[in-house]
Amino acid sequence: MVAEMTASGSRMPVRQGPNWRTRLQAWRARQVARPGFRKFVQWLPLSRSYSRAQEADLFSLVTGFVQSQILFTTVETGLLKALEAGPVTVSDLVRATGLTEDRVRRLLQAAQAVRLVSVGDDGFATLADQGAVVQSDRGIRAMIRHHALLYRDLSDPVALFNGSHTDTELKRLWSYAGSGRESSVRPGDAAAYSALMAASQSMLADEILDAYDFGRHTRLLDVGGGEGAFITAVSARHPALTLSLFDLPPVAERARQRFAGEPLTQCPHCHGGSFLDDSLPRGHDCVTLVRVLFDHEDAVVLRLLRNVRAAMEPGQTLVIAEPMAGDGSRGQRLSTAYFGIYVLAMGSGRCRSPAEIIALAQAAGFSSFDIRPCRSALMATLVVARP
Ligand SMILES: C[S@@+](CC[C@H](N)C(=O)[O-])C[C@H]1O[C@@H](n2cnc3c(N)ncnc32)[C@H](O)[C@@H]1O
Repeated sequence: MVAEMTASGSRMPVRQGPNWRTRLQAWRARQVARPGFRKFVQWLPLSRSYSRAQEADLFSLVTGFVQSQILFTTVETGLLKALEAGPVTVSDLVRATGLTEDRVRRLLQAAQAVRLVSVGDDGFATLADQGAVVQSDRGIRAMIRHHALLYRDLSDPVALFNGSHTDTELKRLWSYAGSGRESSVRPGDAAAYSALMAASQSMLADEILDAYDFGRHTRLLDVGGGEGAFITAVSARHPALTLSLFDLPPVAERARQRFAGEPLTQCPHCHGGSFLDDSLPRGHDCVTLVRVLFDHEDAVVLRLLRNVRAAMEPGQTLVIAEPMAGDGSRGQRLSTAYFGIYVLAMGSGRCRSPAEIIALAQAAGFSSFDIRPCRSALMATLVVARP
């Protein structure tokens, strides 16, 4: 037996040769590769709509980069923002974006094609559904803007994969990742990634809070909690919970300042330190790790989980929430592809399946496990573990 990868990126042992499912898929691929077979499937009434959907999916894959760039431009030029208040004319958009009339018209045409905006036959433009969601969520907009960095790192994706491009922008942004010198992260470094993380919590916190009832606990510690956006959301949903956060000293300091400026029922405790080298505060019946494991290698994750376990007693609960790999839903597949490549560009970590996370937690001394899906698997899946 040798360790091999499944399609979702998880490792599993395989026998000497491919099994019947893999052989069947290989046979299917040979059929689909034949133009005559595809024509037949398109002609057959039963398979026609499936075939059209497959075709549209493939075209979306081929042109995906251009669609993302249209989205980026509508955010970056302020086009979506200019449409926020209601219908406007092209001349209004020329003033708002600083683009020429010709370029506004081209951008509107492209943005309408990808359903971000809608241009009526009266000549007025408004937000379409997707555009309205993007414009109303500052987390999505922060992520879209942040992609400028990711795209620069991906300008030669083969170099990223063959290891000849390692000095990436994402590696510089996530200064703790894979460096082995987490405790030397400077306040300026921490500010850049922490602000991005805090903004993107707007898409995540509710998903986690809906998937798991933290109200059953009394004291919660968020390890690697960033500048406290998740804790703020927990506090709003469960005001009776006593909340604490642990992160690198400059990040914990940012959290302290953030909490001081917020109308919380009680001010959470902020602990600064390294979750790898320092003892974690004890006495919490719930510990959370939100988007913490996936940007570390297995050995680091194991060290962290052992440290978390050492601070916990039987009967207490660890909730791990992050994007996880899987072959199932569309959200899971998108998350596997996106976060797998994202952490590759960061130079550290892996998008793991729930089973892989459970195996690491088991090795760290946790014994009972539960997997909780979130509404959007793209955002996160939960693994709930107990010592
Ligand atoms: C990807 S961010 C997630 C932040 C937050 N949980 C969220 O979801 O918004 C990972 C966090 O882990 C923290 N971190 C990384 N290495 C650490 C270490 N050795 N000790 C403590 N915190 C660390 C980072 O500072 C960062 O805030």
